[in-house]
Amino acid sequence: MNKMTLTVIPLALITALVWYLSIGSEERGLSIEDFLQQHWRYPIPAQGVPPSQWSELEASLDPQSCATCHPQQHIHWEQSLHRHAMGPGILWQLQLADIDTARSCLRCHAPMSEQLALLSQQRGWTDFVAKPPNYISPNLHQQGLVCAVCHLRSHQHYGPPAKSITEGVLPHSGFKEHQAFGDSRFCANCHQFASDGPRLNGKLREDTYQQWSATLYADNNQQCQYCHMPDRQHLWKGIHDREMTQSALSVNIELIHDDEKINAVASITNSGAGHHFPTYLVPEILLRLEHVTADGAVIEIGRRIIAWRANLSLTEELFDQRLASGEQITIQAESDSAVVGDIFRLRVNVSPREHYIRTFEDYLSRHGASLSGETLALLRQAITEGKQKRFEFVATTKSVSDIAN
Ligand code: HEC
Ligand code: HEC
Ligand code: HEC
Ligand code: HEC
Ligand code: HEC
Repeated sequence: MNKMTLTVIPLALITALVWYLSIGSEERGLSIEDFLQQHWRYPIPAQGVPPSQWSELEASLDPQSCATCHPQQHIHWEQSLHRHAMGPGILWQLQLADIDTARSCLRCHAPMSEQLALLSQQRGWTDFVAKPPNYISPNLHQQGLVCAVCHLRSHQHYGPPAKSITEGVLPHSGFKEHQAFGDSRFCANCHQFASDGPRLNGKLREDTYQQWSATLYADNNQQCQYCHMPDRQHLWKGIHDREMTQSALSVNIELIHDDEKINAVASITNSGAGHHFPTYLVPEILLRLEHVTADGAVIEIGRRIIAWRANLSLTEELFDQRLASGEQITIQAESDSAVVGDIFRLRVNVSPREHYIRTFEDYLSRHGASLSGETLALLRQAITEGKQKRFEFVATTKSVSDIAN
């Protein structure tokens, strides 16, 4: 062993250490707030020229490319509403928008500079300077919240702390970890308006993070991801999903005999949503208490709407009947015709896009004639799709024989 190798080894170690600290320390040192402030600038700055040693696959921003190595996230993401955040409901409105309005929508629906550049090119907006780079797919903006929206900045990949260590040289020059990915504030960027945002009757129209902050889930460190990304799944199920919606509610029916009558009391609790049920003014839920006779006749004996309803121009609150986290309501009704063998049940009708359906139908009836063929087709498709998202289920049943004596 000569003197040369002795000095070379510590030097290499020091170089490695300095390199390790330089990549890791900057991000690890950033608080969640500071990390997110950098991460969620709008528009997300253009990724720029990819590192020259990268393959075409590593440089691509297309989710289909990520799918080559991250198939599970891609399969789930494909089914999620984040993937479909640029559906007909927003597209028909963008047909009529100027670039400033479009920017205000894309901030949450397709926030990358490259996506804004593609839309500008398509709409012929000359006031947007940057041209889309030639290595991105021409429909990147139509794919909504693509993987790169949450995971790439200047071609650097970011993710949550790795579950296990992968040996060897990683594709896309590895990645940087940050705790922010597991935090509710990561989602708040698009699911919470700032305090100067639009309000209805004094309440922020988008207030999910604040609602969550006031629940026991926040106290127990159960972030949005705990319910919406279990095992880090990329499905983000919500009110559009039957099982997820069912999991928000605990429902019970009690039947009380009172001489010749039966008094039915249905109690409904928001026991599973980590915020108001529903959190926004878009969905409407109709609860119906029904008496079903032995020969199958259905008699509705009570009902209640769960929603935050506004007028169509969103200037006036009509009512706010959302259920706060943990809140319970009851629907009570009497029946004097129920006999043993009959049942009482609570039926739930969910319309996840009700406010949009109403607004769009109103627009169609007043302005439909002046719209271009393409815009009209998108508007009609948005209404049809909105109605197709409606679903219903029976939350619970109670048979009269259960308590008859
Ligand atoms: C050639 C294969 C390959 C391609 C293409 C690829 N990745 Fe990766 N990626 C890996 C490997 C391997 C790792 C490290 C092991 C792991 O976490 O899966 C990784 C890690 C990651 C991580 C960090 C995971 C964590 O634990 O925090 C993220 C996020 C990520 N990739 C996102 C992407 C995105 C987004 C794309 C597309 C723009 C992409 N990757 C394209 C192979 C690839
Ligand atoms: C602060 C983030 C944010 C901004 C800004 C924003 N949206 Fe949304 N948008 C959302 C969220 C979150 C939902 C999902 C609501 C739900 O599922 O109840 C949504 C849903 C929608 C929907 C219904 C779903 C669909 O695809 O049909 C439409 C339409 C829509 N937004 C249009 C717009 C338009 C037009 C603009 C600009 C004027 C805009 N949004 C600006 C966050 C945003
Ligand atoms: C709306 C933001 C968002 C989008 C879009 C998104 N992700 Fe993620 N991803 C996250 C978050 C947040 C986490 C961490 C979740 C947690 O810690 O519970 C994550 C985690 C990951 C991980 C680490 C998984 C693990 O088990 O350790 C990989 C890999 C990944 N994402 C790849 C992708 C790919 C590929 C796509 C596109 C097909 C994609 N992501 C789209 C937000 C996103
Ligand atoms: C860049 C903006 C953005 C970020 C970040 C984001 N979302 Fe979303 N999210 C949206 C938009 C826009 C929609 C509505 C898409 C549509 O329907 O058109 C949406 C829809 C959803 C839905 C579907 C609700 C339904 O109506 O069924 C859930 C659940 C959701 N997001 C949860 C999350 C969670 C949890 C996070 C954080 C890990 C997150 N989102 C991060 C913009 C975002
Ligand atoms: C304890 C579990 C839980 C937590 C924590 C939670 N959610 Fe939800 N979320 C649900 C359930 C269940 C639904 C379906 C019922 C509903 O719409 O309220 C839902 C629905 C939604 C929807 C659909 C739209 C709507 O009008 O209801 C969005 C968007 C959403 N959540 C975002 C978030 C965000 C953002 C956070 C964190 C700030 C979060 N959620 C925290 C369980 C949870």
